[in-house]
Amino acid sequence: MKQEILSHLSPRYPWQDSFHWFDEIDSTNDRLRLMARQGAPHGTVLIADRQTGGHGRRGRSFLSPGGVGIYFSILLRPDCLPMDLMHLTCAAAVAMCDAVQAAAGFRPGIKWTNDLVYGKRKLGGILTELGFTPTGRVDYAIIGIGINCCQQLADFDPEIRDIAGSLSMVAEGPIDRAKVAAAMMEALHRMSLGLLREKEAILSAYRADCITLGREISLVRGDEIRHGTALSVDAEGALVVRFPDGSVEAVNSGEVSVRGMYGYI
Ligand code: BTN
Repeated sequence: MKQEILSHLSPRYPWQDSFHWFDEIDSTNDRLRLMARQGAPHGTVLIADRQTGGHGRRGRSFLSPGGVGIYFSILLRPDCLPMDLMHLTCAAAVAMCDAVQAAAGFRPGIKWTNDLVYGKRKLGGILTELGFTPTGRVDYAIIGIGINCCQQLADFDPEIRDIAGSLSMVAEGPIDRAKVAAAMMEALHRMSLGLLREKEAILSAYRADCITLGREISLVRGDEIRHGTALSVDAEGALVVRFPDGSVEAVNSGEVSVRGMYGYI
């Protein structure tokens, strides 16, 4: 698989030597964090066929069976402050839409902030994390991405069968995982080049792909559930929501559900 992925990369891709393939791993994000602390270079990529401890946001597990998905993490070392990377997940999400479009022939949408979706189904998710230097600058950023590639409906557990999807279910044809993985590497490399300088362009592209905008949403924070309308995504990647009392807030934390998706009615 490693050779197949390499064969799809352009000769100009600069990080071939920092690409590591695993048949099985606990979590590509967890392993890459250890490698980052030991000095792994900018551009290091880990890809696994399956994960035994894949996880998403809020400590949720991310099912990572072998032979059907891509479990991917990339290490970046931008020289900046943490506040300069508020848009990192947005930038990664747009890069993933570019990669899927290039390799599978359709463009998914983004459910704010970090879900790749098509129709009502989640195709994948993104988990970003930062490490800091003793002076509070960014030491490393890890972008972890899981994408369902080849599953058919029956492959998903009954509890998620109505809300999960894969690239092959949308493309209605076989998906070449090596091609998708290479497209992800290329798209994230391109994204890294403009990450600090092209923030506004990245956020405009994100808004265009974000299916949450204009929709009714519910926002869950602890025991509190509030309903509202998603208006925009601001310059930091926060979701701007109008609530029924007319107040408008930029929300950055909490679980956002979109009416009509994932069972939220
Ligand atoms: C989410 O849906 O909340 C994010 C899921 C992120 C999963 C990916 S798979 C590769 C990397 N390793 C992990 O343990 N998580 C991320």
